[in-house]
Amino acid sequence: MWNGIISKYKDFYDIKDGEAIVSLNEGNTPLIVAENLSKMLGGIKLYLKYEGLNTTGSFKDRGMTMAVSKAVQEGSKAIICASTGNTSASAAAYAAKAGIKCFVLIPNNKIALGKLAQAILYGAVIIPVNGNFDDALRIVREIAEEGKVTLVNSVNPYRLLGQRSGAYEVCDQLEGKVDYLSIPVGNAGNISAYWAGFKDYYKAGKIEQLPTMLGFQAEGAAPIVENRVFEEPETVATAIRIGNPASWDKAVAARDESKGLIDKVTDEEILRAQKLLASKEGIFVEPASAASVAGVIKLYGKGYFQQEDKNVVCVLTGNGLKDPSVVSPDEELKVYSVKIDEIKAIIDKSLGSGQ
Ligand code: F0G
Repeated sequence: MWNGIISKYKDFYDIKDGEAIVSLNEGNTPLIVAENLSKMLGGIKLYLKYEGLNTTGSFKDRGMTMAVSKAVQEGSKAIICASTGNTSASAAAYAAKAGIKCFVLIPNNKIALGKLAQAILYGAVIIPVNGNFDDALRIVREIAEEGKVTLVNSVNPYRLLGQRSGAYEVCDQLEGKVDYLSIPVGNAGNISAYWAGFKDYYKAGKIEQLPTMLGFQAEGAAPIVENRVFEEPETVATAIRIGNPASWDKAVAARDESKGLIDKVTDEEILRAQKLLASKEGIFVEPASAASVAGVIKLYGKGYFQQEDKNVVCVLTGNGLKDPSVVSPDEELKVYSVKIDEIKAIIDKSLGSGQ
């Protein structure tokens, strides 16, 4: 039985037998071969690490099991975070499991409804603020310094330790042959965690090569790409609507040490990649997650991937069901009467037109 990432990767986690672990059996997400997209991107082999299948529907659970376990072990009775949605959903769920309180600060009207619904039902105290993620993070950092509540944003080092497990899993699944790792970048914690995870595996002799890291920000929220703070970040990918990432330096180090890059993709490219993932591979991700695939498509178009037979892993960070509002049919859906002939006519027309 799978018991979550701490139990699986205990050699890498400093949690001793008998210490309480707060887990929702996170991790063990599938690495799916993207056969149809790989054909489009002749020469490279594209793999999709579908993190939307974590228990709360995003990669945040990997970090939250560590952060909340440590908070509970240290006697904390409450956790707090700022969030564009997924961190708040994950924090709220792990707090519920641990029986402690959870406070979440979210940018008003700027988080996907599914994520808000999760935080509500898991029982968090939800505090919408008239500001963006960066404003909210500043406040929770200051509040946490007073010591009454534990901060579980990715500035909490246990979060990134937990998220390293994503890299361990990808290495295990590909028997070490990860050539490129493509990942969306928001607050820049996850790209930093993956890089640290790959280095752990390399040092432990479990892999013989380190991948090249490819990070992607949204064009309207691209502080690392442009090397300047974005005061008013804007993008359809609300999860990565961040103008001043906390792990900026770590992400730049991951980029440079791996001889990789951090680039930007437009909202249009993001939504196109989201649609391709769904219509060609059967995988529904939220817009931010599609940035990793949009980025690989962009680089492919520029001739970036020179050699054949390279394994490119895209991390699909969150489940599409969290944010259905960005999806609408190409034409307005007409309602038909319940008459079999009418329905047959639609099917015949569609089959005839080869759709
Ligand atoms: N993808 C999704 C779906 C996210 O929710 C986030 C971050 C990222 C990518 C970027 O990861 O911040 O480690 O660079 N979401 C945070 C949140 C900010 O509050 O849920 P990052």
